[in-house]
Amino acid sequence: MASAESRAAPTALPDTASLRQRFRGRLLTEPADLEPFLVDWRRRYFGRAIAVAMPDSTDEVAAVVRWCAEHRVAVVPQGGNTGMSGAATPDDSGRSLVLSLARLKGVRAVDTVNNSITVEAGCTLAEVRAAAGSAGRLFPLSLPSEGSCTIGGNLATNAGGVAVLRYGNARELCLGLEVVTADGEIWHGLRGLRKDNTGYDLRDLFVGSEGTLGVITAATLKLYPQPAAQITAMAAVDDPHAALRLLELAQSAVGSSLTAFELMSDLCIELVTKHFPDHRRPFAQPAPYYVLLEISDSESEQHANATFEALMERAHEAGVARDTVVATSGAQSRALWALRELVSEAQALTGKNIKHDISVPISSIGDFVERTNAQLEQRFPGIRMVVFGHLGDGNLHYNVSPPADRCDREHEAEFLGLQPAINRVTHDAVVAFEGSISAEHGLGQLRRDESARYKSQVEMALMRRVKQALDPLGIMNPGKVLPPG
Ligand code: FAD
Ligand code: MLT
Ligand code: ZN
Repeated sequence: MASAESRAAPTALPDTASLRQRFRGRLLTEPADLEPFLVDWRRRYFGRAIAVAMPDSTDEVAAVVRWCAEHRVAVVPQGGNTGMSGAATPDDSGRSLVLSLARLKGVRAVDTVNNSITVEAGCTLAEVRAAAGSAGRLFPLSLPSEGSCTIGGNLATNAGGVAVLRYGNARELCLGLEVVTADGEIWHGLRGLRKDNTGYDLRDLFVGSEGTLGVITAATLKLYPQPAAQITAMAAVDDPHAALRLLELAQSAVGSSLTAFELMSDLCIELVTKHFPDHRRPFAQPAPYYVLLEISDSESEQHANATFEALMERAHEAGVARDTVVATSGAQSRALWALRELVSEAQALTGKNIKHDISVPISSIGDFVERTNAQLEQRFPGIRMVVFGHLGDGNLHYNVSPPADRCDREHEAEFLGLQPAINRVTHDAVVAFEGSISAEHGLGQLRRDESARYKSQVEMALMRRVKQALDPLGIMNPGKVLPPG
C-alpha cells in the first residue's frame, strides 16, 4: 500500500497563475524574495519552493491549501522561522509551497472572566503577551525568541521555554484551535473550555504536529493573573547535582511561586560575555555552573525580596550555593536574564554546533550530565559541552562544540561529520535514563530518523496511521516528523 508520503507523486510543476491572480502581492515567486523563507535559523537546512504564499485570512489559507491539494504540491507552514529542527524549511525538490502565516495578526477576543484570549496564528509570542498584559492578565509562555516566533509555531512545536515549571508548555496553555485541514476545510475548534470530554482530542493532535497534519490559523489560550512582583536571582554552584539540591530547597521554600529555574555551564557565560561584551559575568569568581531563578509573588515586591533573601541564605548554609546574587532592580534582573537568553545566539556566533534537546526525569539530570560528559570526552578528546536549559523541567540543551582551536570554517565539515557518533552516545544515554531526545524543539528534519530509531514499531505505526488519516495525499510538510515510506 502506498504511504501518505509517497502519494504526492511527482508530476510537472503546476502553473501558479491562478494563485498569483488571487493573491497578487501576497504570493512571492522571485528568488530573492523567497530566500529568507528557504533556510532555517541555524543555517543547517536549505530548501527550494515554487512560491511563498502570505494569506491574510483563514479563508485564504484554506484556498491555498485546496490549490496545493489539487496540484499535489507540498505545503510547508511557516511562522517566525525560529525553529531549531529544520521543520519549517522545504526540501530541495522545488515542489513545495511555503505557507507563511505572518499576516494573520488579529487578536479576536479577550475574556478576563474566562481568563482566555483568542489570537490568530501569525501574532508573535511577544504580541500575544502584550495583548494579555493590556487586559491586566499574563500569558505565561516565554521563550528567548518571543519577539520573532509566532503563536502558531509555538503550538505546532508545542514549545516550552522558561516558565514551563509553573505554567506548562504550549499544549497545556491551549484551550482551542482553528485549523485548516489538509484538504482545505476549516475546523472551527476555538473552544474556551477547561473541561470537554466529547471524544478524541483533535486539538491535542494538531499541537506538536509541526505542520504535518494541518495549518493552525487561530487559537484560544489560557490567561493567568499578573503577579504582583517578579524577582530574579542567580546562584553559582559546583555541578548539576548541587543545582538539583537547590531546586529541591527552592520548591520546598516557595512552592509554585518558583517560576523559572534555568541552568548554565560556565562555558555558556564565557561565550555570551565574549560575543556580547556589554554583558558582564555575574560573580567575581567563576564557577562550573550557574542557576538563574525567578519567583513570581502574588503579594508584593518586598515579600518577594524577603523570600528570596531567606532562600539564598539557606542555600549558603546548606553548602549548595558557592555564591548568590538577588537582583535589586529591573535593570539588574534583565541583565541576569540576558546572560541566559543570549546563549543560543552566542553559540551560533561561535560556529556550528551539534544540538541536543533532551529531557530525563529531573532527579536524573546530574547523573546524565556526568556520565555523558565522561563518555563523550573519552571518545572525542577536546570537544566542549555547552550545557544549558530548563533544569526545573528536566530539559537541557546539551550542545556539543568543537575544541576551542577548531571552531573555524576549515574544521567545520570534519566536526559535523562526528554528528551521528555524538548523537548516538548522547541519545543512547538519554534512553538509558528513560528520557526523550526532543523535549521542546520537535523532530522536524533534524531528529526525525533519530526518533524513529528509538520509538517502538507500535508507536511508529500508530503515528503513521494518524498521518494517513488526516493527510491522505501526504502534502502537509512532508519529510518532517516521520521518515518517508
Ligand atoms: P517556525 O520555525 O516557523 O515553524 C516551526 C514548525 O511549526 C514547523 O514545522 C512549521 O511547519 C510549523 N508551523 C509554524 N506555524 C504553523 C501553523 N500556523 N500551523 C501549523 N504549523 C505551523 N523553543 C522552545 O521550545 N523553548 C525555548 O526556550 C526556545 N528558545 C529559543 C531561543 C532562540 C534564540 C531561538 C532562535 C529559538 C528558540 N526556540 C525555543 C525555538 C523556536 O523559537 C520555537 O520552536 C518556536 O515555537 C517556533 O515558532 P516559529 O513561529 O518560529 O515557527
Ligand atoms: C533556549 O532554551 O534558549 C532554547 O530552547 C534555544 C536553544 O536551545 O538554542
Ligand atoms: Zn530551551
